Amino acid sequence: MAKFEPIVTERLVLRPLEARDRARLVKLANNWKVAKNLSTMPYPYTEAAADDWLGKQAELWAGGKTVTLAITEDGEMIGGIGVGVRDHSEWEMGYWLGEPYWNRGYVSEAARALRDYAFEGLKLDKIVAGHYPDNHASGAILTKLGFRYTKETLRPSLALGCKVKCLDMELPRARWLELQATSRAPNLLRVPA
Ligand SMILES: CC(C)(COP(=O)(O)OP(=O)(O)OC[C@H]1O[C@@H](n2cnc3c(N)ncnc32)[C@H](O)[C@@H]1OP(=O)(O)O)[C@@H](O)C(=O)NCCC(=O)NCCS
Repeated sequence: MAKFEPIVTERLVLRPLEARDRARLVKLANNWKVAKNLSTMPYPYTEAAADDWLGKQAELWAGGKTVTLAITEDGEMIGGIGVGVRDHSEWEMGYWLGEPYWNRGYVSEAARALRDYAFEGLKLDKIVAGHYPDNHASGAILTKLGFRYTKETLRPSLALGCKVKCLDMELPRARWLELQATSRAPNLLRVPA
């Protein structure tokens, strides 16, 4: 695996998964409320599933089309986030967080940092994402980051064992640049004393 410089945010560090994450991964991912919102997470999430996922990391990174990271707080894995090319040619962002850590703004913080890395570091032209219609928290996060709804699709859900309606969203580079310019606007208005 090529050396990846961890992404450091105010409260979190996003870094590649490590073998020592195994126990936390099983503990936090083995949760129906997590799995039911994700397309590719199995449920129950067994130790074998964790071994399979950890064992795939080197190959995923080597392909150069996936950045898959653990969300960590004080060195401990609390969730996962990534951006990568999956079953279509577009780079898609996905994330999950262990339930004990919900509603503290952690994924907003992590996803914002990964979004910026994707445009600045990976030089992507666009990021896509999607959420199931009842996943309002994920919709709120993506909307805050500038994503806009594009279409409805049907996606397979490993946990549910069927296809589920998904609301697709996208964030083109041009819109991200606009947002960056807007968020810098207050600085431009600062008048020297
Ligand atoms: C969805 C998930 C990632 C959210 O993570 P989180 O760290 O709790 O999210 P944050 O605290 O950063 O932000 C949640 C936002 O959703 C809002 N929100 C939460 N529940 C909501 C609801 N029921 N309706 C509307 N908005 C809601 C919060 O107010 C917050 O918005 P704000 O910052 O504008 O106030 C987390 O619950 C999770 O991992 N769920 C299971 C897996 C999953 O759904 N992954 C995403 C698949 S698309």
